[in-house]
Amino acid sequence: MDISKLNSLITPSGTMAISNKAKELKEEGKPVIGFGAGEPDFSTPSYVIEDVKKAAEDPKNHKYTAVAGLEILRNEISRTTSIYSNFDSDPNNIVITNGGKQAIFNSLIAILDPGDEVLIPTPYWTTYPEAVKISGGVPNFVETNYQDNFKVSVEQLEENRTDKTKALVWVSPSNPTGIVYSKEEAEKIYEWAFKNNLWIISDELYEHLVYEGETSPSPAIYDPQFKNTIVVNGVAKSYAMTGWRVGWIIGNSDVINMSKKIQSHATSNVANLSQIAALSALKNGLNETNKMKEAFNKRRLYALNAFKNIKNINLVEPTGAFYLFPDISYYCDGKIKNVSNSIEFCNWLLDEHYVAFVPGEVFGVNGYLRCSYALSDDDLAEGLKRFSDALNNL
Ligand SMILES: Cc1ncc(COP(=O)(O)O)c(C=O)c1O
Repeated sequence: MDISKLNSLITPSGTMAISNKAKELKEEGKPVIGFGAGEPDFSTPSYVIEDVKKAAEDPKNHKYTAVAGLEILRNEISRTTSIYSNFDSDPNNIVITNGGKQAIFNSLIAILDPGDEVLIPTPYWTTYPEAVKISGGVPNFVETNYQDNFKVSVEQLEENRTDKTKALVWVSPSNPTGIVYSKEEAEKIYEWAFKNNLWIISDELYEHLVYEGETSPSPAIYDPQFKNTIVVNGVAKSYAMTGWRVGWIIGNSDVINMSKKIQSHATSNVANLSQIAALSALKNGLNETNKMKEAFNKRRLYALNAFKNIKNINLVEPTGAFYLFPDISYYCDGKIKNVSNSIEFCNWLLDEHYVAFVPGEVFGVNGYLRCSYALSDDDLAEGLKRFSDALNNL
């Protein structure tokens, strides 16, 4: 029997492919160092664990919650968002989702009709195009480049806009480049999107991980009725809580009602105890986040310095998230045996030097790799030494 045509359109998560290969080599006893992780290497704060342990004893927390999630958590999200992100939201216009990922899917399914186009600046986070396709839409990629610090301009967006364009996927700080748009840059793009009556799906998962300057303002600040804006956020990155699977979507009541409908049939509520974990994280403020941020920043500076000593690599200095996105195209034209693109480059590095990076193709561009610095200081130093020896001694 045939399966759906979607099968040929969707690719599995590429970040998973390289981490699986690295895992296999590790299990064979090879001294692999992974720069592939899209998650903090820190543990979830201990007060979260204590609160969840207590909550687990109470049978009321073993039941379904409302599809949109616990009211107390939605109130807390609304409260903390107004403090940290500077925009107000009605707790009734928030849905708690299974991670930021489900928030993105809910948003796209809620707004797209078949054939609607979604502007996605490249390099992009690997899930965006697949989520658009699964939701019946068509990704319309807008290429950014190293020279422009991987930032998209209004002119580029306008060039790619068609009468089918429905939305822009927006993420700053960015995965995979770590770049952060300034207030002025972001404002120009929001103004353009609002003027053209497009949706902005604003992925704010890395909002607290900015090391220099300000984080980008949310489009919701300029669109208090959420006429064009859908905000996606979650606890995964800022609170070291990837495995708890708690995200959320903030939008207008049409988007939120649709999101609830979709989720009521797909997954119902997020695990009750995970919601309690997220509540504990938010209630306890940003102290632990800021400690983690300090450690990330030290590693960022260390890695930037190490990259300066590697020959023939260009690197935009990112100020957010926990990724670097070096240009390794110099090494992709036969200088290394069997290496003519970044996938082959990453496979060569992993096979020969036991260092795992994610190839740029996963994010829509050849000639780059994503280097996550969410790993221990010792591994960071050893991994970058291996990387630099491998290239400098070619
Ligand atoms: C930019 C971006 N958005 C959303 C997510 C999804 O996060 P979650 O683990 O909450 O689903 C990720 C995770 O890698 C991400 O990098």
